[in-house]
Amino acid sequence: MIFELNGVNVIAELTTTVTLLDLLRTDFGLTSVKKGCEQGECGACTVLLDGMPVCSCLVLAPQVEGKRVTTIEGLSENPLMKELRDAFMENGAVQCGFCTPGMLLSSFALLRDNRHPTEDEVKVAIEGNICRCTGYVKIIEAILDAAEKISPD
Ligand code: FES
Ligand code: FES
Repeated sequence: MIFELNGVNVIAELTTTVTLLDLLRTDFGLTSVKKGCEQGECGACTVLLDGMPVCSCLVLAPQVEGKRVTTIEGLSENPLMKELRDAFMENGAVQCGFCTPGMLLSSFALLRDNRHPTEDEVKVAIEGNICRCTGYVKIIEAILDAAEKISPD
């Protein structure tokens, strides 16, 4: 099976039915994609599939054939992701960090499509990402801070 992973066409040998989550972590070593509930509840396994956030634990690997998968590693040089990363750091939004990659990918998709989100829109964008530290205030502040920096007007 061939698909695009972080901008590069890759081949995956699928010998069994495997989730995208396990494929990314095991075959490609992308451990930023966290393994949490494996039931689509926590969002720790969020990746972008053709640009949209999905829970990779709910996607079977063969389903991504010919599609574009992006993890946080693939956005390391992206200016918008850099703003988000900096804002998370400056606002103390990285607490234990387990949810952080998924939070960043969901908020990246939000700010990519909506440069001036309201607080409610931010809450909707990350509603599928559970922070076990219950520290949503700083995370929401960080996302709004990044939005302000990329679009100050
Ligand atoms: S591990 Fe996929 S949603 Fe929790
Ligand atoms: S920082 Fe989100 S689970 Fe701890």
